[in-house]
Amino acid sequence: MSTVTLETPTSGKYEQPTGLFINNEFVESVDKKTFEVINPTDESVTCSVQEASEKDVDIAVSAARKAFEGPWRKETPENRGKLLVKLADLFEQNLDLLASIEALDNGKAHSMAKVDIGMCASTFRYYGGWADKIEGRVTDTGPDTFNYIKKEPIGVCAQIIPWNFPLLMFSWKIGPAIACGNTVIIKSAEQTPLGALFAAKLIKEAGFPPGVLNVISGFGKTAGAALANHMDVDKVAFTGSTVTGRTILKAAASSNLKKVTLELGGKSPNIVFEDADIDNAISWVNFGIFFNHGQCCCAGSRIYVQESIYDEFIKRFKDRASKNVVGDPFAKDTFQGPQVSQLQFDRIMNYIKAGKEAGATVEIGGNRMGDKGYFIEPTIFSNVTEDMQIMQEEIFGPVCSISKFKSKDEVIKTANNSTYGLAAALHTKNLNTAIEVSGALKAGTVWVNTYNTLHHQMPFGGYKESGIGRELGEDALANYSQTKTVSIRLGDALFG
Ligand code: NAI
Ligand code: MG
Repeated sequence: MSTVTLETPTSGKYEQPTGLFINNEFVESVDKKTFEVINPTDESVTCSVQEASEKDVDIAVSAARKAFEGPWRKETPENRGKLLVKLADLFEQNLDLLASIEALDNGKAHSMAKVDIGMCASTFRYYGGWADKIEGRVTDTGPDTFNYIKKEPIGVCAQIIPWNFPLLMFSWKIGPAIACGNTVIIKSAEQTPLGALFAAKLIKEAGFPPGVLNVISGFGKTAGAALANHMDVDKVAFTGSTVTGRTILKAAASSNLKKVTLELGGKSPNIVFEDADIDNAISWVNFGIFFNHGQCCCAGSRIYVQESIYDEFIKRFKDRASKNVVGDPFAKDTFQGPQVSQLQFDRIMNYIKAGKEAGATVEIGGNRMGDKGYFIEPTIFSNVTEDMQIMQEEIFGPVCSISKFKSKDEVIKTANNSTYGLAAALHTKNLNTAIEVSGALKAGTVWVNTYNTLHHQMPFGGYKESGIGRELGEDALANYSQTKTVSIRLGDALFG
């Protein structure tokens, strides 16, 4: 088993697995290829991990197939549930270490990463509870037949996840897949492979049979594409960019028409009405965009404030955002760490440049912070018009645009003026406004007087180009099961 000793300020030294986790063993890749994991805080190399190629994907898929057709099929739903609950317990027992790994690998604040890990445990436990409650039904078509409709697992599922919430996305994907009785090959993002590999160790410790959950590290264009194109993968679930989502849908279409669910990008509107509790609104608007360094698919990046309170709002919002502590993810008070990679850093800085060139006003921020690590100042643009690139495209960084609106009807129209439809929010004390505007916004989630408050019981996913299908809640079970109708003839032969 390949491991390396790593150290974090919050958890001390620990043994980090670096192999591909296939059939409950950490193995080297067929070509013995590895890639480097970069620490975004100081740009140093943390370690190297094994890199999956198409050949390794083939091996992982056969392991998952063998487990699916063999022992896993015969496992009771109750035991599937127990395994997930055990994994939840192990996440809680290792909460501090897992959060430290996330902070090291992704650069997210350790205090925030702890919340992520708690949510992973809740997700596993929630789907553990579902495992023995997935029921079919009986339908009466007359006395001559007995019909039942049952839910069956889909089979071998490939799950491709991003780097912004490495372990949280891992739990959102694995929880419902296992509850429904599938087997899994999950590919972490190349920027953040460490958490998933440590979690693989916990999968083994929890007692999952070999081949049920396989965890591989590798790149999108090689390992990811091999999974999406594979003829023996029955389903692919993906979270990431809309561009890659389209590629995966095409790969499914041109291979074996595997089932596809996609959770993609967003450009979510966050609307503040003049009757809102302004202190609350400012704090949720700030959290809505700057949480996780703006690297959230549901980030509230388009902020619309009603005319009469606009001047006061912007003054106080600037003040609030400048107090966000940006720095070392392991420092106690840090709210915002570095962006995940040089590439993401460059993308965001290019958007900031584009905003400035298009004539938008930088209210605060707009620059790199320090000269080491991928840190960017919290940035607020005003005087942004609807046609500007920074208003239309997902920036995925600590950058937002703020503009004013006059009427409810006007803001509904501008808020919906996006190809995306993942999330939206509004702040008001008026119940009628809350219900009317929530109904009119074209988004999979609408938050009222809050933001980013995700919960494992509540479905999450996108309208329009933000995705296909829903994760979390009972809805996610539909992504991982298929319906079988069985019709039994009781009466005499019909054509006899
Ligand atoms: P990406 O969508 O390319 O990568 C996400 C995952 O997909 C990774 O595991 C990657 O290895 C895999 N992947 C990439 N190309 C693939 C392919 N051809 N076939 C199969 N799998 C593939 O996202 P990337 O490049 O890391 O970030 C680009 C932008 O995507 C960000 O700036 C952001 O706007 C958006 N994004 C959205 C996320 C979300 O939560 N919805 C998460 C990450 C990125
Ligand atoms: Mg990419």
